Amino acid sequence: MKTATRSYVATPGGQVAGELRVPGDKSISHRAAMLGAIAQGTTEIHGFLESEDCVSTLGALSAMGVRHERIGSGNVIVHGTGMHGLRAPSHALDLGNSGTSMRLLAGLLAGQAFESTLVGDGSLMQRPMERVAEPLRRMGADIRTRDGRPPITVIGSRPLIGRDHRLDVPSAQVKSALLLAGLYASGRTRVQEPGVSRDHTERMLGAFGVPIEREANTVALQGPVALRATDIRVPGDFSSAAFFIAAGVIAGTGSLLIREVGINPTRTALLDILRLMGADIRVHAHDGAGEEPRADIEVRPGRLRGIVVPPEAVPVAMDELPVLFAIAALAEGETVVTGASELRVKESDRLAAMSAGLAALGVAVEPSADGLRIRGGTVRGGTIDSRGDHRVAMAFAILAARAESQVNIRDVQNVATSFPGFAATARAAGLLLAEAG
Ligand code: S3P
Repeated sequence: MKTATRSYVATPGGQVAGELRVPGDKSISHRAAMLGAIAQGTTEIHGFLESEDCVSTLGALSAMGVRHERIGSGNVIVHGTGMHGLRAPSHALDLGNSGTSMRLLAGLLAGQAFESTLVGDGSLMQRPMERVAEPLRRMGADIRTRDGRPPITVIGSRPLIGRDHRLDVPSAQVKSALLLAGLYASGRTRVQEPGVSRDHTERMLGAFGVPIEREANTVALQGPVALRATDIRVPGDFSSAAFFIAAGVIAGTGSLLIREVGINPTRTALLDILRLMGADIRVHAHDGAGEEPRADIEVRPGRLRGIVVPPEAVPVAMDELPVLFAIAALAEGETVVTGASELRVKESDRLAAMSAGLAALGVAVEPSADGLRIRGGTVRGGTIDSRGDHRVAMAFAILAARAESQVNIRDVQNVATSFPGFAATARAAGLLLAEAG
């Protein structure tokens, strides 16, 4: 379901104001589909993100015999097979561009009584997978990678034993893979992280009836344990909202309200960073939002100053750093980010893609091994290669609103992996963003 859009043509100017909504949260949608698949009973997911990445997860589950129905836009009903109801797929599971699908499914598949192989597109086939394979092996799984990268082959039919895992870096994907395997393991699976990572898996496992122990950055569960189906309401994706928060801050002409956004505190560090830079952002929280808190986020334009981004904010704002770099190009003075080497192994090398793109627009940018130093100023027009990375493409589409002349952004088709309809939403917000085939 690739879209025909290959590039964006962004014209500076536009009037960003009013109200908008962003599509459902990607991380929560993946988890809802996977947990619904192995639960007993029927799970209704409201606000499911119908993006290419989440469709890859649904496709993999279908290939293992999980039935689902799409009812209207954003509502998916998953007919759970129970903990041992998945069937061996007849072919390799192709997860497209989606690292989250691959890493979480590796954990889920470690607990199954069949062999499976996970593959993806050119970008995903280059991404590191030992970070999940190695700790899963310590639980007894037989998992193979090719020099640390996909394809991942999970042999299956191996008894799993709960273990104590200490991660070197915080990672929600690794933590989630281990917890999913832990559902099938005997004894206690415990994951301790050196910092905060998003906690959607532990929140959602609780909703599916799994007792979860949590303390600081440690989470544990006792296996084996079965899941009971439940209904999930998926909030708007904060990481997608981030592009419009940026638009409101740098190109706004009045207040911009982004409705129904997930504000799980493990996701919203960008707001703290932008406030340190001087942005005027108000969060109107909703009451009684269930497992995942949500809010309307109101953004007003303002003068921004460059900062040294606090090191503790960097890991939890990792997905928002591309758009933060774009904002920094317009702030007064220097913005410095360090501790972000993980950006080099995302859908593209995001430090390289963002620094090359900013330099192409005349921005003074200095890359380091683990970050960027950006001096804000004027942004010229030019041509950007997004390197097939959705977040790089969207970051430049927003920055272009304040460029001196037209910005062409190439290789943007993967925007549909996380934010279907991004260009239309941008136009509705007032940006001058055309799509070209
Ligand atoms: C995700 C976790 C994060 C994030 C990724 C989605 C998830 O990665 O960057 O886009 O849904 O679990 P890490 O596991 O590397 O922190």
